Amino acid sequence: MRLTCLVDDSSGISNPFLSISKIPGNFLAEHGLSLLVETDQGKRVLLDAGSSEGTFVHNLNLLGLRPKDIDLVFISHGHYDHLGALPLLLREGIPVHTHPLTFQGRRFVEASGVRKEIGPSDELLSLLKEHPPSYDDRPKELANGVSTTGEVFRRTDFERPSSFHREQNGELVPDLVMEEQALCLSTRHGLVVLTGCGHPGVVNILSQVRMHTGRKLLMAAGGFHLGKADANLLLRTVDGMKQAGLEKVAPMHCTGFAATKLFSDRFPGFLLLGAGCSMEL
Ligand SMILES: [Fe+2]
Ligand SMILES: [Fe+2]
Repeated sequence: MRLTCLVDDSSGISNPFLSISKIPGNFLAEHGLSLLVETDQGKRVLLDAGSSEGTFVHNLNLLGLRPKDIDLVFISHGHYDHLGALPLLLREGIPVHTHPLTFQGRRFVEASGVRKEIGPSDELLSLLKEHPPSYDDRPKELANGVSTTGEVFRRTDFERPSSFHREQNGELVPDLVMEEQALCLSTRHGLVVLTGCGHPGVVNILSQVRMHTGRKLLMAAGGFHLGKADANLLLRTVDGMKQAGLEKVAPMHCTGFAATKLFSDRFPGFLLLGAGCSMEL
């Protein structure tokens, strides 16, 4: 199985000592995430679609691929920075799988007293009526060795998103982003867990995977949403991830600099994967 970072907040470099190769070409970076999984049987499953069609298509072309070469799109949650190329993929007729709440209600984030809309665009919402995704909040196998976690149960008391709101019956209510699911990849050496933004809390996500599968966790990669985390949250998250038995971590996207630095200090298996980086799992 092969994992390639298609869109991320940074553009990557190769590291032959860590078996990370960099596909030739100038990959663009933007605030968003899209990860491509290629199974041993040749199925291409995409986790999320970056935040803009232009960056997505530019980077995909550098892989020698076109949108129609993707077999299935899994959308982790309903924030714009994971939905950018989804209209294009829907128009191409690529099947989409996600949680039933992903496209429900307008979504907002508040920072420094400013409210910003961060949900799906009107264009995307109208395309979804013509090309309905398959919805499931339970774990589901999407391809051989590629499964969703199902809705993530909140177990820890320190991982609580507080800045998000969603529209419900005409009112704004706090949004725990309950729709966010992660992907589990089954490899010879253990499970690889891919997170979109990690809003449920990465420790909660890993606990869910361990309880459902009972299998060894090899690696967590993706957005861990720790950019505004205080020291307590950072340290408890790193401790929780170490207790989960991970050998490797690849923080990306919204993880934040301080958290990424802490992961690099605390995990011998720290990996830096930016857009264009690829590794065999
Ligand atoms: Fe995100
Ligand atoms: Fe998000």
